[in-house]
Amino acid sequence: MAMDGEARPNDLSAFWMPFTSNRQFKKQPRMFVSADRMHYTTSDGRQVLDGTAGLWCCNAGHNRPKIVEAIQKQAAQLDYAPAFQMGHPKAFELATKLVNMAPEPFEHAFFTNSGSEAVETALKIALAYHRAKGHGERTRLIGRERGYHGVNFGGISVGGIVTNRKMFGTLLAGVDHLPHTHLPEKNAFTKGQPEHGAYLAEELERIVALHGAETIAAVIVEPMAGSTGVLLPPKGYLQRLREICTNHGILLIFDEVITGFGRLGSSFAAEHYGVMPDLITCAKGLTNGIIPMGAVLATAEIHDTFMQGPEHMIELFHGYTYSGNPVAAAAGIATLETYAEEGLFERADSLATYWEDALHSLKGLPHVTDIRTMGLIGAIELAPIAGEPTKRAFNAFLKCYEKGVLVRTTGDIIALSPPLIIEKEHIDTLIGTLADVLKTLE
Ligand SMILES: Cc1ncc(COP(=O)(O)O)c(C=O)c1O
Repeated sequence: MAMDGEARPNDLSAFWMPFTSNRQFKKQPRMFVSADRMHYTTSDGRQVLDGTAGLWCCNAGHNRPKIVEAIQKQAAQLDYAPAFQMGHPKAFELATKLVNMAPEPFEHAFFTNSGSEAVETALKIALAYHRAKGHGERTRLIGRERGYHGVNFGGISVGGIVTNRKMFGTLLAGVDHLPHTHLPEKNAFTKGQPEHGAYLAEELERIVALHGAETIAAVIVEPMAGSTGVLLPPKGYLQRLREICTNHGILLIFDEVITGFGRLGSSFAAEHYGVMPDLITCAKGLTNGIIPMGAVLATAEIHDTFMQGPEHMIELFHGYTYSGNPVAAAAGIATLETYAEEGLFERADSLATYWEDALHSLKGLPHVTDIRTMGLIGAIELAPIAGEPTKRAFNAFLKCYEKGVLVRTTGDIIALSPPLIIEKEHIDTLIGTLADVLKTLE
C-alpha cells in the first residue's frame, strides 16, 4: 500500500522490465500465462510455438512432469538449508551428475544462481588460482569483442557488447579484448563452422606480447557466441586459443551458458569442438530454466590447488546464499535425468541437418544477408533499415509473435534455439512463418 494509504492499481507500471523496451511493451503487452512442451499460451488464449526455448534455457520443453514433481516434492521436504558450512544431499547428487555428464577433466562443480554469477565466480576462481600458485601478479582478464558474459561488473568488463558496457562507468581495470570472429564478407551462408578466421586467435599472442604473459590470469570466450547473434567459431580457432593459453600458463574459460546441455548436440561445446578449457560456466539448461541456477565446472588441478592449508579454514571466500539451493538442485537432477532418459542431446544432433537445411531455405528472401546454424541453434542476419538499426529484426519478432511463433532478436539478427524436443513439423512451422514474415517486412 502506498504511504498515503491509497492502494496503487495493479497495472503494468511497477515492474521495471529487464532488457525490454518498457514503454513499447506496456503499450502493447505480450503475456504468456501457461506453457506445455513446445508451446506457450498467451493471455488472449493463443498458442505460440517456442522457437527460443524461453531464453535459450528450456531445453527439455515446458511443463515436464518429472521436473515439476521433483520441485514440488523438494519444496515440501526441505525448502532451504544453509549453503555455508552445511549441506544437503541433493546439491551433492546434482554436482556428481553434472560432472559425470561433462567432459572428463571436469570433476568439480561450484553452484551459483545464474549465468552472470557463474561468470563472476569463474573469473574470481581464475584470479585466486594463480594467487594460490604463487602468481598473484596474474591479474589481467581477456575477453572478446561481441562477447556476452552476463550483466555483472566482471561479465560486462570482459564482455564486448557496447550497449551493455557504455552506460556503466569504467568497469574492471586490467581487461583487454580479442577481436570478434564475425567475418560475413568471407563466411556468409557457410554451412557449419566457417572456413575463415582461425588467424584471429593469433591476436592473443599480440595481447600477450603487449602485457606480458605473467600478468594474464585468464581468457574467457563463448565457444559459440550466442547472445551477440550466433557467431560460430572458425575452423581451428578454438584449438589455437587453447594452444596459446597453454603455452603461456593462461587459464581458458569457456562460457557455456548457452552452449551447454545439448544445444549443439553434445553435453557441452567443449566436447562438440574437442577443445578442453580449464573452467566451464553454465546455467540456463541446468534446471531447464525453471529454477534459477548456474555452475562453474573446474578441473581437479584447479580445485585441488585450493585444497591446502589448515582443514578448518575456508578455501575459497566466495559463495551465494542460494548456492545449491535444495529446490534448484532437485530441478537440476530431474532435468539432467530427463535429458538422459529421452536422449535429447542425441536428438538435437540428429535433427541438426534438417534444421540447417530448413534455415538455409530462407536464403534469397528480402533483407537476409547471412544464415548460421550449429546443432539446434540458428541465426538469420538482416540488413538494417538505414538509420534505424535493430528495427527491422524487432518488427520481424513482433510479426512472428502475432502469427504464433516466438523468435528472439539481437541487433538485426533473428536468433533461434528451440527446445530439443522439437519435431520436424514444428521446424517447418517455425521456418514457414519466418519466411512469410520476411517477405512482408519493410
Ligand atoms: C554466454 C552467456 N553468459 C552469461 C549469461 C548470463 O546468464 P544470466 O542471464 O543467467 O545471468 C548468458 C545469458 O544469456 C550467456 O548467454
